[in-house]
Amino acid sequence: MLQNITIFPGVDKGGRQENFDYITLKAGETVSIVGPTGSGKTALITDVELLAQGDTATRRRVLVNGELPPDEIRYNPALKPIVMITQNTKCFADLSVEEFLQIHARARKIDDRQVIRATIDLANKFTGEKIKDDYKVTILSGGQTRSLLIADAILIGAAPIILMDEIENAGIFRQEVINLIQNTGKIVVFVTHDPVIALLTETRVIMENGAVKKVLRQNELEITAAKNLLEIDKKIGVIREELRAGKAITNELMAVNFAS
Ligand SMILES: Nc1ncnc2c1ncn2[C@@H]1O[C@H](COP(=O)(O)OP(=O)(O)OP(=O)(O)O)[C@@H](O)[C@H]1O
Ligand SMILES: [Mg+2]
Repeated sequence: MLQNITIFPGVDKGGRQENFDYITLKAGETVSIVGPTGSGKTALITDVELLAQGDTATRRRVLVNGELPPDEIRYNPALKPIVMITQNTKCFADLSVEEFLQIHARARKIDDRQVIRATIDLANKFTGEKIKDDYKVTILSGGQTRSLLIADAILIGAAPIILMDEIENAGIFRQEVINLIQNTGKIVVFVTHDPVIALLTETRVIMENGAVKKVLRQNELEITAAKNLLEIDKKIGVIREELRAGKAITNELMAVNFAS
């Protein structure tokens, strides 16, 4: 059972020691990593993904349940407790969506019929154009692929750590993802430029110049702020969907969405 992971400091881009003792992420915790472009967000989750032991550019070390992870966990993908979904994640197998999920479900000894239906339905809650069971996984778009893999990680995957790199840029309905992911008992890390995701996670890690600059815990006011942002976000969502559907802005649409 994975209870926690601990990240020990490394060095920033200039080789200077990072200024924190350690960061512990516990099972069930949601975390966001924020900071300017190029500040080392992806590098930080990559350290977690690799279970780095001072052997990456950042020199960080990562412990699992307070202990050094054995080599078989670091190097055997089947035993790795981590799934990372990045901007470049693609499925390369020559399989349909259904077959892809079936293989995964069988490997996990889960009754496949129900879970496959549920996984595709869940993925379709995150994505605009729907994924069909018989689509080849190789033809899915970037956003569809990420939606499918997130749904797979939640419903089928055993990995207790899910790392997601900028899922908002795939046009994924992130609100749905956040709602769902809060109750999985997993450690879920979002690298994000999105203030809503940042405010809805319990822990916020701020990056600068390749180093962790600060670690903040969510406060009550931030939950309220996030709710307000979600309201604005819904309005943006309505407009986005109208534009995606080829509609033009009308007075009626303005009145419904922007009445003050
Ligand atoms: N501590 C570090 N020491 C050395 N190199 C680093 C360090 N942190 C990050 N880098 C390198 O700096 C570059 C930018 O980092 P990274 O890709 O993690 O940024 P990012 O915050 O994810 O940016 P973006 O928002 O554009 O995705 C990468 O080449 C990365 O390997
Ligand atoms: Mg990045």
